[in-house]
Amino acid sequence: MNPMSMRDALNNSPRESFSASEPLSVVGVCLDEGTWTVLKQFAESAPLIRLRSHLSEYRVQDTESATDWLGTPAPDICIVDFDRDRRRAALAAESIHSAAPETAVFAVSTDAQPDLIIQAMRSGCSEYLLKPMGREQLLNAVARVGGRRKERLQPFKAQVLAFMGAKGGCGVTSVVTQLGAMLANSFSKKTLVVDLHPDFGDTALYLGLTKYRYHFFELVENNDRLDAELLQSFLAHHSSGLDLIPAPEGNDAPRRILPGAVAQTFEFLRMRYDFILVDMAPGLSDENLEMIRHCDQLHMVTVSEVSALRNVVRHLDYLTRKEIPRERFRVVLNRHQKRALIGDSEIEKTIGQKIYWKVPNQYAHVVKAINGGDPVAQLSSSDVTKNLRDLASHLGAKPASGEKKKESSGFLGLLGRS
Ligand SMILES: Nc1ncnc2c1ncn2[C@@H]1O[C@H](COP(=O)(O)OP(=O)(O)OP(=O)(O)O)[C@@H](O)[C@H]1O
Ligand SMILES: [Mg+2]
Repeated sequence: MNPMSMRDALNNSPRESFSASEPLSVVGVCLDEGTWTVLKQFAESAPLIRLRSHLSEYRVQDTESATDWLGTPAPDICIVDFDRDRRRAALAAESIHSAAPETAVFAVSTDAQPDLIIQAMRSGCSEYLLKPMGREQLLNAVARVGGRRKERLQPFKAQVLAFMGAKGGCGVTSVVTQLGAMLANSFSKKTLVVDLHPDFGDTALYLGLTKYRYHFFELVENNDRLDAELLQSFLAHHSSGLDLIPAPEGNDAPRRILPGAVAQTFEFLRMRYDFILVDMAPGLSDENLEMIRHCDQLHMVTVSEVSALRNVVRHLDYLTRKEIPRERFRVVLNRHQKRALIGDSEIEKTIGQKIYWKVPNQYAHVVKAINGGDPVAQLSSSDVTKNLRDLASHLGAKPASGEKKKESSGFLGLLGRS
């Protein structure tokens, strides 16, 4: 996403939502005299910020972590002057952002060139303030940080349930999209599906959602600018009531995800949903590992085949070595058949734990749901649907009265051809 358009979106966010019960603490870094004076006047005239300190060096060669020189607790806002030395200012912003991700970093500069603004944003700045810094500009930026702090203080809510295939094609996307639509529709739960595939995710296709603008990793890259209004532009809405944040299409520029950014994004999302289901690509990429550490439960979706079961064992062993608690793993056996070549007890013996859930093998139903782009169109009619309804109850959801139904636009609609 273009940071300028992100800024534009943010510039429209309502300031009234900000009511700081306690002023936001601010640390300045290498600010010129004029800017520091504006800040002091602002702090005196409105009880929104409290100036904590002003550092006269960028401290980029410091062996100390930024959290040490910023002071404890980390300030709410750090304002870095980019005019004295742009390179060092960017390095300072980067180290503040990674050491104290909850601190909002503002760049301040006389230079309004778009590529310089983008560079500053990439180094972790959530705002780019132009000198001479006006009261209005400052007030809007501070209000956005205040709004986000208020949201952070609300307790986490959603269960974050991650789903990963023991290998490709085990049925992760089918289970996630159908379970998600079920939770949203039959159980009236505020539910979000996040497609964590680095590219070519299928969730949007399975849900028949072809019109969306942004993908999950753009959200992650911009998580420090995230608020309720901005989130809306990332969501695709399914007629069941389910929300989706899709995966990239696959032709994106390489991206740089800072460690901790995926978890931080989910902390924000958690506050807005009852359930978040994550469709993960198989494998143990850094993003997947961060997700596994952060989620409440990891569901390894497998089928009753030697290669898949061997991968379940290998994943569970690896994650245990990474000190992820064993209670977090659940094994979901998809395409379950009573008279399978490898029996359930043999599977449980192999994987060293009970099968958490068995989804019946019903190819015709699943393919129909995918082709129609509407997992709730055949509600109540199939074994898979009934089974996933039971799973939703098992996860703690209570059925709601009245389910929303809609006409499916069919297979061609998915390809944007109906
Ligand atoms: N319960 C089921 N019964 C029968 N067929 C199923 C079932 N679940 C999934 N399938 C079929 O398995 C195939 C793969 O499903 P799906 O795309 O959901 O898997 P995936 O794990 O998301 O794959 P990928 O690794 O490509 O993302 C699809 O053709 C689907 O119809
Ligand atoms: Mg898939």
